[in-house]
Amino acid sequence: MSDYHYDICVVGGAGHVGLPLALAFAAAGQRVLIQDVNVEVMEEIKRGTMPFIEDGADPLLQEALRANRLFFSARAQDLSAARHVIVAIGTPVDEYLHPTLRALPELFTGLQPLLHPDQTIIIRSTVYPGTCRQIARMLERGGPQWKVAYCPERIAQGFAVRELRELPQIVSGTSAAAADAAARLFALIAPEIICVDVEEAELAKLFSNAWRYIQFGAANQFFMIAASLGADFTRIRDAMTRGYGRAASLPGPGFAAGPCLLKDTMQLLAFSGNNFPLGHAAMLVNEGLPAFIVDALRRSHDLSRTRVGILGMAFKADIDDTRDSLSFKLAKILRFHGAEVRCSDEHATDPSFVDKDELVRWAQVVIVGVPHAEYRMLAVPPEVDVYDMWRVLPAQVLVS
Ligand SMILES: NC(=O)c1ccc[n+]([C@@H]2O[C@H](COP(=O)([O-])OP(=O)(O)OC[C@H]3O[C@@H](n4cnc5c(N)ncnc54)[C@H](O)[C@@H]3O)[C@@H](O)[C@H]2O)c1
Repeated sequence: MSDYHYDICVVGGAGHVGLPLALAFAAAGQRVLIQDVNVEVMEEIKRGTMPFIEDGADPLLQEALRANRLFFSARAQDLSAARHVIVAIGTPVDEYLHPTLRALPELFTGLQPLLHPDQTIIIRSTVYPGTCRQIARMLERGGPQWKVAYCPERIAQGFAVRELRELPQIVSGTSAAAADAAARLFALIAPEIICVDVEEAELAKLFSNAWRYIQFGAANQFFMIAASLGADFTRIRDAMTRGYGRAASLPGPGFAAGPCLLKDTMQLLAFSGNNFPLGHAAMLVNEGLPAFIVDALRRSHDLSRTRVGILGMAFKADIDDTRDSLSFKLAKILRFHGAEVRCSDEHATDPSFVDKDELVRWAQVVIVGVPHAEYRMLAVPPEVDVYDMWRVLPAQVLVS
């Protein structure tokens, strides 16, 4: 087929990765079909409302709708009419932290009759190593060569619009034709294209997230060691990093949460036959931080008689996404020890959440789960004990 109705179809186009990407291509003049199973969210997007916080996305959405460059469908059949098919569905780990390896192969088993070898298929989701070639082999069984490319997404959620314009794009393909077609497409939005082999691209993406997760693990481990000595890690980190470039990349302490970092570290752990001690250690440290905070509080408070407020339930600052947020784990452990817990968030909504001012008036102890910008000016009554590892609240007396 040579004439396609759409330049691009983004499968999973209503999601956190798919939608900003669709908007970036629409802004570059492409006719983009958003194909997603979530009809409700697509209706919201169609009405011109971003379904989640993405800095700078609203004007792009308005413009794409106005210019008639964005189209919507819940029917997989419609992807047959797109020259490029980009797949950005979720690739989670299960409740035992094992990769759910079947998500993409199963999707492609269903899509195969609807696809054509002329189309360029671009996998955008983060994948278990070997997945892209497995999909190419599956499509090619007994048939012609397909153009299957892997172009991983590397944006930080909330900043996709800016980062899609600024970050070099890693491009790989299971054939030279696939890599060329994908490179030409991404050259429309990315400042630089980095071409590597498919396996290199798969690992580059997983290593990037695992590296970040390990860095957070190191910072959180240092924070716990400092706290056990009654020392102030913020001052230690400042002393380490100020004017000393070799330590500059040490992050601050805090919950390392969300749908990607732990999940991708666990994919590597599984891939290396559970022989990834650094990743495993980072998981133990990062996932152990809520319990560490509760243990610290239990030394100074009888939690069964304590009202604890958690500020910030999103998985990171200034966004509304609560997926895999460690604030919920914190609330669960506190409640297990008998504390009465209330939660607040500036962006994420839940009928049980309370307003931040009400929370700090009600609580005897306030814990900052996530440092939303709104907390920088939040006045906490002096009699309230505060646990703020992020140091986002105005100066106060801290529980250590
Ligand atoms: N969120 C991030 O910041 C980020 C960054 C880089 C990479 N990634 C990777 O990108 C992928 C997607 O992550 P996300 O955060 O956008 O997930 P998401 O859940 O926000 O989006 C996935 C979308 O796919 C849709 N979907 C699921 N199955 C479908 C199907 N069969 N057909 C059509 N649509 C379907 C869902 O309805 C949803 O809208 C994952 O592999 C993730 O690891 C995410």
